[in-house]
Amino acid sequence: MKIRNIVLVGFMGTGKTTVGRRLAKHLNWDFIDTDAAIEEISGMSIPEIFRRHGETRFRSEEIVLVKRLLERDGCVISTGGGTPLSPDNWEMLSQMGYIISLYADIDTILERIGGSSERPLLKAGRDENERLLLSRQPIYDKADLTIDTTKSSIDEVVDEILYNIT
Ligand code: S3P
Repeated sequence: MKIRNIVLVGFMGTGKTTVGRRLAKHLNWDFIDTDAAIEEISGMSIPEIFRRHGETRFRSEEIVLVKRLLERDGCVISTGGGTPLSPDNWEMLSQMGYIISLYADIDTILERIGGSSERPLLKAGRDENERLLLSRQPIYDKADLTIDTTKSSIDEVVDEILYNIT
């Protein structure tokens, strides 16, 4: 299978950044993390963008960035948890390459990232986070491949991706 890019989508804490970086290394491809790119371009951290300019501004920055990435080849692109929610972004991400959705159950997610101050949309309560996850899951599920990372190590997830794409 000849793939232009690999795009990782999924909820916060599903391992998109860690898996993406390791996968890119295996493939000898470039690695792009959309949150890190937005932070670099704007000169602000994600929480700072949300605090000073609000979520709407952050979502516009995401769209601008995704458009810029359209011309890239040979990249593993890890997106933010909300990036694929915009239909325009989904369309562009599908044009870029093969979309892989990483899943984990809410308790595993909260064990991994609970209490993180780096994620403005992470809620205080378990059930609120679960509701957000469930409301987004149908969109993540449109991916070409979904991998449940709940019980897997990073290396196992990377191996599963490599198995599926080569
Ligand atoms: C968000 C997820 C974050 C980041 C921002 C918004 C979301 O990325 O883009 O805080 O809407 O789920 P991670 O999924 O990498 O945590």
